[in-house]
Amino acid sequence: MRLRYALLLTGILTSPALSRPSASFQERCANLADKIQLDYTFEVNLAEYLAPNTTIDLTAESLNATCYDSIGNTTAPVPVGVCRLNLRVATSESSEVYTEVWLPENWEGRTLTTGNGGLAGCIQYSELTYGASYGFASFGTNNGHNGTSGGAFFHQPEVYEDYAWRSIYTGAVVGKSIAEQFYGDVCGKSYYLGCSTGGRQGWKAVQKNPELFDGVVAGAPAMDIWAHVGFFGYALQTLGFNTSSVTLAQWAAVREEVLNQCDGLDGAHDGILEDPAACDLDWKPLLCSSTTNNTCLTADQIEAATKLFGPISYNGTLIHPGHGHGYEPELIAYEYSPLVLTWIPEVFRYVVYEDISWDPMTFTLQDVLYALQQDANGVHLNTFDSDISAFRDRGGKILHWHGTADQLLVSRTSDLYYNKVRSTLNASVADLDEFYRYFRASGVGHCYGGPGANFMGQLGGQVTADTPDDSMLRRIVQWVEEGDAPESVRGTKFINDTVALGVEFTRKHCKYPKVNKYTGSREGLDEEGWECVEP
Ligand SMILES: *[C@@H]1O[C@H](CO)[C@@H](O)[C@H](O)[C@H]1NC(C)=O
Ligand SMILES: *[C@@H]1O[C@H](CO)[C@@H](O)[C@H](O)[C@H]1NC(C)=O
Ligand SMILES: *[C@@H]1O[C@H](CO)[C@@H](O)[C@H](O)[C@H]1NC(C)=O
Ligand SMILES: *[C@@H]1O[C@H](CO)[C@@H](O)[C@H](O)[C@H]1NC(C)=O
Ligand SMILES: *[C@@H]1O[C@H](CO)[C@@H](O)[C@H](O)[C@H]1NC(C)=O
Ligand SMILES: *[C@@H]1O[C@H](CO)[C@@H](O)[C@H](O)[C@H]1NC(C)=O
Ligand SMILES: *[C@@H]1O[C@H](CO)[C@@H](O)[C@H](O)[C@H]1NC(C)=O
Ligand SMILES: *[C@@H]1O[C@H](CO)[C@@H](O)[C@H](O)[C@H]1NC(C)=O
Ligand SMILES: *[C@@H]1O[C@H](CO)[C@@H](O)[C@H](O)[C@H]1NC(C)=O
Repeated sequence: MRLRYALLLTGILTSPALSRPSASFQERCANLADKIQLDYTFEVNLAEYLAPNTTIDLTAESLNATCYDSIGNTTAPVPVGVCRLNLRVATSESSEVYTEVWLPENWEGRTLTTGNGGLAGCIQYSELTYGASYGFASFGTNNGHNGTSGGAFFHQPEVYEDYAWRSIYTGAVVGKSIAEQFYGDVCGKSYYLGCSTGGRQGWKAVQKNPELFDGVVAGAPAMDIWAHVGFFGYALQTLGFNTSSVTLAQWAAVREEVLNQCDGLDGAHDGILEDPAACDLDWKPLLCSSTTNNTCLTADQIEAATKLFGPISYNGTLIHPGHGHGYEPELIAYEYSPLVLTWIPEVFRYVVYEDISWDPMTFTLQDVLYALQQDANGVHLNTFDSDISAFRDRGGKILHWHGTADQLLVSRTSDLYYNKVRSTLNASVADLDEFYRYFRASGVGHCYGGPGANFMGQLGGQVTADTPDDSMLRRIVQWVEEGDAPESVRGTKFINDTVALGVEFTRKHCKYPKVNKYTGSREGLDEEGWECVEP
C-alpha cells in the first residue's frame, strides 16, 4: 500500500466523538440512516459501519458505480473505522446527486469535500480515504450523473447545472449537516480538495459559494474550460483529426531538442524545465536536411507543430495561451487518447449545439467562440470570474497549484487567472499572499506523474509524508487554523513513481511568480541547491 495511513492519525483537536460516553460508535452508525433530517428530498442508499482496514469492493452490484476514483482503483482501502453512507439527494425536480458521507471514528471536527475528474460522474474514493485517515468527515458526490459520459447532459439542463457547481455545493451542505447530526456537535473548519475538474469545482465554490469552504486546495483546474476544449479541437484540426501528421517519434525528437536548448536555463540538466516559458525554441535543428531520417521534421510539419506552442487566437479573441515545452510526446499522446477524442464530440453534441449529428471533423475555433457565448448566457461552466473578494473577506484561503508539464490543461491558464485576480482586485502579490497562493510544480504532469517531484499530498494516491511542507491537505489546515502559510510546496520524486522503490529526489516548488534557480551540484538532486527567485 502506498500510503502510510497508520502514521497519519495524529490529531490537533480533541475528538468530540471520543469525549462522548453515549452509545458506541457502531450503534450510533446503525441508527443514523433512520434519523437523518435534511432540507432536501433524499433517500439512503447504503449505510454501514466499516471497521479499520476494511477494503471496499467498488464493483459491488448495490453501488452500480461505473467508475471509481482518480486512479481507476476498483477497490478502496479504508484504514480507519468509518460510518459510511451513500445517499440519493434531489437537486431539482429533474436531477439528483449520489453522495458518499464518511464519518470517521477519529473525527477531529473538520470536514473535507472532494472533487471529480473530466466529464465524470465518479466518486473519488481515494480522496475519501485520504480525508478519513486524517480524521476529516469526508464527502464525495457523483457530480450529478454516473459514469464518464457527457451524454447525461443532453437536453438535461439541471444535470448540467449539477456538473457546473451544484453537485459540490449539495454534497458539502448535506455532508456537514449529517456530520453534525451524527456527532452531535457543530463542524469546525471545512476544506475542499480536488484536481482537474476537481480544481475547477474548488474555484467555482470560491467564486460562487464563498461561504462554503474555509480552505481550498485546487489543482490543475479546468477553470477556463472553453480554452482547454478549444485547444483540444485546434490541435486535432492542425495535426489531423484521426492521427497526428507529426509522429510520436518526431515529437520525442522535438523534446530532445528542447532539452538540448533549454534544460540548462534553470541551472540544472535534469530533464525538467523549471520555467517552460523561458524556452524560446529554435526549431531549425529539427528541420530535415538532404539526409532525412524518421525523426527530422519537414517544413510543413514544423509549421503545424509550432502553432501549438504560441497564443491561439480567432477573429481577435485570444482562445488559449499555447502549451509549454518539455512534455511534447505526452501532450500529443493525450491529445489522441480516448479521453480527449471523446471530449470534443460529447461537449459540442450534448451541450453546445444539442445536436447529436454534429460532426467533430468540422471543428473550427468559431465553434469555441460560439461555446463561450453560450456559456456566458447560460450555466457558466467557465470558472474564470476573477472577483474573489467575497472569499477573501470571509477569511478563506486558497492553495492553487498546477504542474508545468501538464499535458492536458496547460499551467499558463492558471498564470493568466492569477494575474486576472491581481488586476481585478488591484492587489499586489503580497496582498494576494494573505489568502491566495499559487504554486507551479515543475515537471509535474496532469494532477500527478511526470519527471518532476510529483508526490505532494495533492490527492489520495499521492501522499508521501505527514508534514505540512509535503502534504497539501496538512498545509491548508495549518494555514487556515494557525496562519502558517506556504512559501513553497515540497514534492517527492520516487524512483519510477513507486514509493516502495525509494526516493529519487525532493524539490520545493515555487510560489508564483517566482521561479526555481539552481546553484547546487549533482544536477538538481540537491534540494537545498534550489532557490525561488523573481523571474
Ligand atoms: C491496520 O493496518 C495497519 C497496517 O497494516 C496496521 O498498522 C494497523 O494496526 C491496522 N489497524 C487495525 C485497527 O487493525
Ligand atoms: C448511480 O449510482 C448510484 C450509486 O452511487 C446508484 O444507486 C444508482 O442506481 C446509479 N444510477 C444509475 C442511473 O445507474
Ligand atoms: C444499474 O444501472 C443500470 C444502468 O444505468 C440501471 O438500469 C439499473 O437499474 C441500476 N441497478 C441498480 C441496482 O441500481
Ligand atoms: C477519419 O476517421 C473517420 C472515422 O473513422 C473517417 O470517416 C474519416 O474518413 C477519416 N478521415 C481521414 C482524413 O482519414
Ligand atoms: C535526423 O535529422 C535531424 C535533422 O536533420 C538531425 O538533427 C538528427 O541528428 C538526425 N538523427 C539521426 C538519428 O541521424
Ligand atoms: C469577428 O469579429 C467581428 C468584430 O468583433 C464581428 O463583427 C464578426 O461577427 C466576427 N466574425 C466571426 C466569424 O465571429
Ligand atoms: C490600486 O492600488 C494602488 C496601490 O495600493 C493605489 O495607489 C491605486 O489607487 C489603486 N487603484 C484603484 C483603481 O483602486
Ligand atoms: C488502490 O488499490 C490498491 C489495492 O486495493 C491499494 O493497495 C491502494 O492503496 C489503492 N490506492 C488508493 C490511492 O486508494
Ligand atoms: C524503472 O522503470 C524502467 C523502465 O520501465 C526500468 O527499466 C527500470 O528497471 C525500473 N527501475 C526499477 C528500480 O525498478
